[in-house]
Amino acid sequence: MLSAGDEQPNAFGAKNMSSPSSELEHKILDRSARIGIIGLGYVGLPEAVMFAQAGFPVTGFDVNAERVNKVNAGDSFISDVPSEVLATLVSSGRLRATPMPAGNASSLPSEPDGPLGRRSAAGYPQGGPQPPEPQEAASWEITQQLNNLSAMDCLCICVPTPLRKSRDPDISYIVEAVQAIQRELRPAQLVILESTTYPGTTEEVVQSMLEAGGLKAGVDFHLAFSPERVNPGDSLHPPCSIPKVVGGLTSECTRFASLLYEQVVSKVLTVSSPRAAEMVKLLENTFRSVNIGLVNELALMCDRFQLDVWEIIDAAASKPFGFMPFYPGPGLGGHCIPVDPFYLSWKARSNGFEARFIELAGQVNSYMPKHVVSKVVDALNDREQSIKGSRILIIGVAYKPDVSDTRESPALEIIRLLQSRGAYVHYHDPHVPQLLVDDKILDSFSLVSHSTIEQPKSTGRNRGSRSTNGRSGSSRIGNTRGAADPPSAQISSLGSSPPPSGFRSTDEQFPVSRFDCVVIITHHSAVDYKSLVKEAALIVDTRNATKDVPFGREKIVKL
Ligand SMILES: NC(=O)c1ccc[n+]([C@@H]2O[C@H](COP(=O)([O-])OP(=O)(O)OC[C@H]3O[C@@H](n4cnc5c(N)ncnc54)[C@H](O)[C@@H]3O)[C@@H](O)[C@H]2O)c1
Repeated sequence: MLSAGDEQPNAFGAKNMSSPSSELEHKILDRSARIGIIGLGYVGLPEAVMFAQAGFPVTGFDVNAERVNKVNAGDSFISDVPSEVLATLVSSGRLRATPMPAGNASSLPSEPDGPLGRRSAAGYPQGGPQPPEPQEAASWEITQQLNNLSAMDCLCICVPTPLRKSRDPDISYIVEAVQAIQRELRPAQLVILESTTYPGTTEEVVQSMLEAGGLKAGVDFHLAFSPERVNPGDSLHPPCSIPKVVGGLTSECTRFASLLYEQVVSKVLTVSSPRAAEMVKLLENTFRSVNIGLVNELALMCDRFQLDVWEIIDAAASKPFGFMPFYPGPGLGGHCIPVDPFYLSWKARSNGFEARFIELAGQVNSYMPKHVVSKVVDALNDREQSIKGSRILIIGVAYKPDVSDTRESPALEIIRLLQSRGAYVHYHDPHVPQLLVDDKILDSFSLVSHSTIEQPKSTGRNRGSRSTNGRSGSSRIGNTRGAADPPSAQISSLGSSPPPSGFRSTDEQFPVSRFDCVVIITHHSAVDYKSLVKEAALIVDTRNATKDVPFGREKIVKL
């Protein structure tokens, strides 16, 4: 491997890329470098927008045809990226999206009408771009060039890195993306892996796959890892304000990757290798997982001691040094914290090392949904109600506040557990209009004020004086539908802006007060918790979302 500054010809006889006058460096500095973002999801789309806003021509590549079409229509599917911003960049020609070329036909979805559709001989999905009329040929040619991975000067890989059912890393998306790049790799390209993964992936997997085509990493092309640290839903920390950590294969790789990010983010930190950069991201997420595990265990202990864990954490947080507050909750969610630490423990295990903190935190955190359900059961029991046949309203099913992402959300397991105990479960989430639980689609329930609804003759379940099966009075509430049916599919939120006027008197009237228990799983800021407490019969609050509500405390059970 050549070191930085060596002036030797590369495999193609071209001048060494470490020359300060390299074309790539100039292109990055004058922002004419073509940026290819592979994977237009929660990470890739904001990053594509960030580069395009900085003046770079950006092409987003994705296997999901719907996402590609939406981007090209200026229709954002990510709340952090306003559609107006996306539409402006697309119409100015600064940002475009295109189907990801195939890496290896065998690694593409097997169904003929999968995300890419059936491929034509020219490599385009059927129904996708077709050769034009002669007079349009020139512009069509340019457009097609921009759809090629080889036309990109810099490629950032932002594809998913989930766990398999066995809880081992699934890097098949990275492999598929790298296969596609390898087919089109050309000298002087800069390839950066951003997907969170175990230490060693960039060198052991990406480098070896890319070099199989004959070009040498660090000599003919540049290769680096730079973890994505975006925090969806966090307007205080937009991507451009979050420092980038960069570890290149060689010092030149690090320099080029740093130079690129310096154009769009306020600070870039370099580390000694891709492996170190991979480890940085896993430390960040393991740190959160372990600390959340610790406070979740403390919450379980406080429950036994009849102490308020929130009071204790807030008092401890008054210490101006040496303490950082973490808060308990219904379990981990999202694509990062419940997943990434297991990439590290898997890699540790394959090196003969057991990552005990990670495994223990995983056990405590994954127990929390069951604990929430037992709190609901106990709270109902204290009111002489059974979980079987009870009507439960879940508030918030996204994995964290003010986002629409439900991946790995603990709400999913809590809903399943409640349903398996015989409860009728509905949910309200101002950001999630529909939710797939197993093979059933639930609709976000419209929160309706009791006061806006004429009382039906039947009073529904008779709290505190009912039969043991919980069905005294009537099993139907305020309408003719069975309780298992979603009473309303309308998406109005209790107190979401504009507040209380947002209460809807719907045809399918079913006010909050008629639920036996409201369970707050995710504390979205658009929900008016005062109105919720006023209306609800019983609340299990797993997030201390009702902490500022001075009244109705007797009906609130906290985690
Ligand atoms: N979501 C977050 O908050 C967050 C934060 C930091 C890091 N990360 C990491 O970033 C990576 C991406 O996460 P995400 O949340 O953006 O995922 P995502 O599922 O939202 O988006 C990934 C996109 O990649 C596309 N894709 C899959 N395979 C592809 C391929 N071969 N070629 C082109 N496109 C392909 C998918 O269709 C999807 O649109 C993961 O490693 C994740 O752990 C995520």
